[in-house]
Amino acid sequence: MKNKLILGSLVLGAFFQANAQLPVYLDQKLSMQLRVEDALSRMTLEEKVKLCYAQSKFSSHGVPRLGIPEIWMSDGPHGVRAEINWNDWGYANWTNDSITAFPALTCLAATWSPELSGAYGGAIGAEARFRKKDILLGPGVNIYRTPMNGRNFEYMGEDPYLASILCVPYIQELQKNGVAACVKHFALNNQELWRGHIDVRLSDRALHEIYLPAFKAAVLEGEAWSIMGAYNKVRGQHACHNDFLLNKILKQDWGFDGVVVTDWGGCHDTYEAAMYGLDMEMGSYTNGLTTESEFTYDDYYLAKPYLTMLQNGEVPESTINDKATRILRTLYRTAMNPEKPFGAVATPEHYSVAEEIGNEGIVLLKNSSPSRKAEKLLPLQADRYNNILVVGDNAVRFLNEGGGSSELKVKDMISPLEGLRSMYGDKIKFAQGYASGRPMYGNIEEIPQSVTESLRHEAVEMAKKADVVIMVGGLNKNHYQDCEGGDRLSYGLPFGQNELIEELQKVNPNIVLVLLSGNAVEMPWVNKIPAIVQGWYLGSMGGKSLANVISGKVNPSGKLPFSFPAKLSDCGAHAFGEISYPGDSIMQEYKEDILVGYRWHDTKKIPALFSFGHGLSYTTFEYGNASASAKSFSGNEEIRINVTVKNSGKTAGKEVIQLYIGDETGKIMRPVKELKGFDKIALQPGEQKEVSFIVKAGDLKYYDEAIGDWNVASGKFKAYIGSSSTDIRSTVPFTYKNDLLVKK
Ligand code: BGC
Repeated sequence: MKNKLILGSLVLGAFFQANAQLPVYLDQKLSMQLRVEDALSRMTLEEKVKLCYAQSKFSSHGVPRLGIPEIWMSDGPHGVRAEINWNDWGYANWTNDSITAFPALTCLAATWSPELSGAYGGAIGAEARFRKKDILLGPGVNIYRTPMNGRNFEYMGEDPYLASILCVPYIQELQKNGVAACVKHFALNNQELWRGHIDVRLSDRALHEIYLPAFKAAVLEGEAWSIMGAYNKVRGQHACHNDFLLNKILKQDWGFDGVVVTDWGGCHDTYEAAMYGLDMEMGSYTNGLTTESEFTYDDYYLAKPYLTMLQNGEVPESTINDKATRILRTLYRTAMNPEKPFGAVATPEHYSVAEEIGNEGIVLLKNSSPSRKAEKLLPLQADRYNNILVVGDNAVRFLNEGGGSSELKVKDMISPLEGLRSMYGDKIKFAQGYASGRPMYGNIEEIPQSVTESLRHEAVEMAKKADVVIMVGGLNKNHYQDCEGGDRLSYGLPFGQNELIEELQKVNPNIVLVLLSGNAVEMPWVNKIPAIVQGWYLGSMGGKSLANVISGKVNPSGKLPFSFPAKLSDCGAHAFGEISYPGDSIMQEYKEDILVGYRWHDTKKIPALFSFGHGLSYTTFEYGNASASAKSFSGNEEIRINVTVKNSGKTAGKEVIQLYIGDETGKIMRPVKELKGFDKIALQPGEQKEVSFIVKAGDLKYYDEAIGDWNVASGKFKAYIGSSSTDIRSTVPFTYKNDLLVKK
């Protein structure tokens, strides 16, 4: 034994002496550029190609000979997904992969809080690092174009400015854990129907003003280390190997130095993948029977077929060197990052981040009195009610399940019913009210009519005896109900909820409706329901956040990140027939152009049922008159718009003060106004604060197709200060003189 030890230390000593000078690619003190170049110079062509494609569902090859590790990825974006089998989509049934489910990104967007976005990124990054993931597949920043899109819940709403501001801290804080963000789905994956092939056509203006800004902010400000291509086509070419999107815009114009990863199965052609900006191919389908290789992944487009093209000189070697460089850079930033922390999952700190985001993201859509009394129904004070009836499948459903790739396996989960029970104790009774079937991806379970009727009957009977009813409904991440792979089939609530709501309010006017969804829904009963709360998908601590807001422990401060059209035809995407949405199955044209969301409602004077930026509070905020630091400015100068906001009620609360700007020069078609700033402030009763926004020429620009660049006209503009996009409290006119352009 002793001899063995001596021999062992001799061998080790000799090894360290021989390696006193580390290969450059392993020397962590040297610059990343040097290490990447050195590693690349030692690799064979075969090894470089191997970096570019999957070796399992969620990992890619390393270079074992050089000690370069594999890359491990996981969904994203609301928590770290449970482990998936090596070769298929089944769960691997590990016992150590339960995590925190954070609120869905629509809820994060509804907080209007960059600080909470940073906290989200930091916490999810720590969980990803603990689970040994190098790339987290998120955040999603596709723009909410239509409430029918099955995946809106994974995105940050309809406004490019809001999504841009909010995605940046998420990415930055996530990446501090040595985990790359993979911002998805680049670009124009705005519907699930026909997502694998629909060819999106739109103007350059809509592309640059609406659909690209959040990706641009993610790259230029967030410094995201990876981007996921979208499934769909854009202007005739698949987005995962799209010369215009990936080579021209992402890599050339924005100088992106990270990796472009396909969406799973989004690669379709070796030549295009080699030439048009793709770096890593994941999730392509090989059935294991017709495959020509022993190792089926070798049949991927960027695998042997790419190697052969390189060997035959059909594509230049510079393509593989560029891809391998980007992948090595990603490795040095993540798996080979010496500073990466250990991470942690499901900690009290992460739970409090999840709860806080829920607290601040829940939106109070409506709060009135059920009778003509002055008092509003919410908050529900415990001492006022003895019999509180909770109704609804969503009150007990595990909404971390379903939805597609963002599905999560939680360590802990507080359902709305549990949250309300711990707030109100045994005053709470429960009736399911409606049934919606199991979460099934790509399938739906039929609920027999007799079941629907008997559940409804039971709830209505119990509602007759209750002091107040809290109905928790909405969508539920089943197929067609906020789920990847399919759009919603109708704008209305599913599973007979409309009928249930109508019947409940007939027998009990004290009804609070909580909608859990990532999308707007039609509300034919809206005038009959005194209190409506938009509760999103809130993750592990969701029930707690909901109970906090309903009870008044937390004063709601969430604001809608998208408009709720009264009916579907009021939404811009649906105003031009099928060619605009969903397309003719081959192609679609975004005919509403730049008039997405509130830009459409405002400009076409079609009021939304609930407007972008809307969200009530249990207190009231008084806005002073906004003022500008100067009447006009030019060139690179700036002006300041100031406004004083006072909490004029009796409860402490938070308000999101919103700045919109409208171009009144009349020189170019523009939306009435566009969001250009916001500030969320906390105010004690009676307290007031001055909020100040800086406006620069950049905030006034539009994308000028004639010059292929951003431009600004000289003339009159108007600043709107409001509590929502339609609750404008004051406006300030100013002029801008474009002497930069004049000098040209
Ligand atoms: C989704 C992506 C996801 C990937 C891996 C795809 O179907 O579109 O968002 O990251 O699967 O699960």
